[in-house]
Amino acid sequence: MCGIVGYIGGDQAAPLLLKGLEKLEYRGYDSAGVAVYNGKQLEIAKAKGRLKVLSDMLEEGKTLKGTIGIGHTRWATHGAPSDINSHPQVSDSGKFAVVHNGIIENYLTLKNFLTGKGIQFVSETDTEVVAQLLEYYYHKYQCDIFEAIARVIHKVEGSYALGIICEDCPDELYAVRKDSPLIVGLGEGENFIASDVTAILAHTREIYRLNDDEIVRLTRGGVTVYNTDRDVVEKQAVHIDWDISAAEKGGYEHFMFKEIMEQPKAIRDTISPRIRNGKVVLDDITLTREQLESFRRIVIVACGSAYHVGVVAKYALEKMTRIPVEVDVASEFRYREPLVDEKVLVLVISQSGETADTLAALREAKRLGARTLSIVNVVGSSIANESDDVLYTWAGPEIAVATTKAYSTQLAVVYLLALYMGNLLGTISQETYAAGIQDLEKLPDQVSEILSNREHIQYFASKNFNAKDIFFIGRNIDYALSLEGSLKLKEISYIHSEAYAAGELKHGTISLVEDGTLVVALASYLPLFDKTMSNVKEVKARGAYVLGLTVEGKTAIEKETDFVFYLPQTNSMMQPSLMVIPLQLFAYYVAAMKGCDIDKPRNLAKSVTVE
Ligand code: G6P
Repeated sequence: MCGIVGYIGGDQAAPLLLKGLEKLEYRGYDSAGVAVYNGKQLEIAKAKGRLKVLSDMLEEGKTLKGTIGIGHTRWATHGAPSDINSHPQVSDSGKFAVVHNGIIENYLTLKNFLTGKGIQFVSETDTEVVAQLLEYYYHKYQCDIFEAIARVIHKVEGSYALGIICEDCPDELYAVRKDSPLIVGLGEGENFIASDVTAILAHTREIYRLNDDEIVRLTRGGVTVYNTDRDVVEKQAVHIDWDISAAEKGGYEHFMFKEIMEQPKAIRDTISPRIRNGKVVLDDITLTREQLESFRRIVIVACGSAYHVGVVAKYALEKMTRIPVEVDVASEFRYREPLVDEKVLVLVISQSGETADTLAALREAKRLGARTLSIVNVVGSSIANESDDVLYTWAGPEIAVATTKAYSTQLAVVYLLALYMGNLLGTISQETYAAGIQDLEKLPDQVSEILSNREHIQYFASKNFNAKDIFFIGRNIDYALSLEGSLKLKEISYIHSEAYAAGELKHGTISLVEDGTLVVALASYLPLFDKTMSNVKEVKARGAYVLGLTVEGKTAIEKETDFVFYLPQTNSMMQPSLMVIPLQLFAYYVAAMKGCDIDKPRNLAKSVTVE
């Protein structure tokens, strides 16, 4: 989960690389570095800390001259963040410079082998092995760079996206990937590599997406993609039509706030093209009614907030399809010999489409014969490419580490899918189907309305931002949502919080509730409203201070809680789309009031491409 960018062209590389890295900082931000060929040799600049440290050191790149280079922003896996461990890593003689995203799993064996050959290592990174091995093969076989790369990738195990330059070929930039994202940007007299399009969107919108073990050679005049046998691979350029402003802060103080505010549009963009003449139309998927009828189970796999969408989806899909649904975190699913086969639909949810565990879970499901369907935001990403069917969320680029609009659009796709499948299977009535579609279409305006009342939540946050522990409780779909409310808060404000099924709290955790403990009670699921209020009474009796969230008109909540936020009412299945908004705002305002680094919380990265 590091960010890579590379450039070859007519402009100065360093300023351009630093600008590109700024866009990738969400992928990792504990150190950064660049390597540029300065006309005589490779010149390397690296610094521990945020990209700004490096940028200040290089006067925004002005002090490093040269028109070919590679850059990297790091999220440490092997070796602590330090100047030495930052990338680019170079070979013994300084001839090769390498930036890497991923993990070389057999790096110790390779390091021992190379050390035995008298090669000196300076860093603790797995990446240095790649730089050293490149030079070792280059000399041993007296080969060209291409062959050295091909030999290296035959030798290394694990995942990698690599950007490589060599002093001996200063007019060539090389790249290769396996299980880690990397794209090639196609320009006029200049070309690029990057972990993510946002890094190069200012220069080009035409890209190649690379497949595993394709080796790319970039010159100023062109890009050639090869397989490891050096056959040329014909690639189709993909045009990226993301609005560049979508990847800019546009006057907002934080990306997270901007992305919270973009949710009405993102949800509308995701839903509108898929509702036609009062019907859910999912042109993008090929699942037939017969196939749907053949599924005995649906298994949802995902990580982080996408997993939380999966928990909501369990309630929604079971209700609409009457097919049993299981939800699993991808890192567990992949290693527990899951019981899936061709009678199981595996639904994979991922914003980036590159999360290592989720991708591995998808592959495991396919290996076992399951039918796979994914909900993904990044077009052409690995998960999207490898799934039998894909439903895209049209959230646009999401930059803040804490997801908001991707979560909301994933939920929107889940509702579309639930209604679509319920209708196809005949497990819901025509009335339920029609009403569900109408409710879905209202969601963007309802989200806007909640956002316009955000001062209420801001006020509550101003009174509670010093809380030490916060518990989120709810039942049914409110419980599913409490998981996300709790995660959002802890990841950006660093306040300890836990989410509990309201009825479960008394089985142990209520012992932590004492005078003044903040409890957020989600009570939008009206069939269980009274039960949730009973649980609120239990925490109140132990001194808790309670924020209640429910739907307009449910004023009974006022006598049980200390502060109330009302939300417009919708179909109970869709209520999480509305309830999540105040929870996102609460987390955001609390973190802002505590002075936290909201878009780049400590220890986290947005795209987790290592397991
Ligand atoms: C990281 C992010 C989360 C995200 C999770 C899964 O932990 O910080 O916001 O939910 O990865 O990412 P994905 O791209 O697969 O949705």
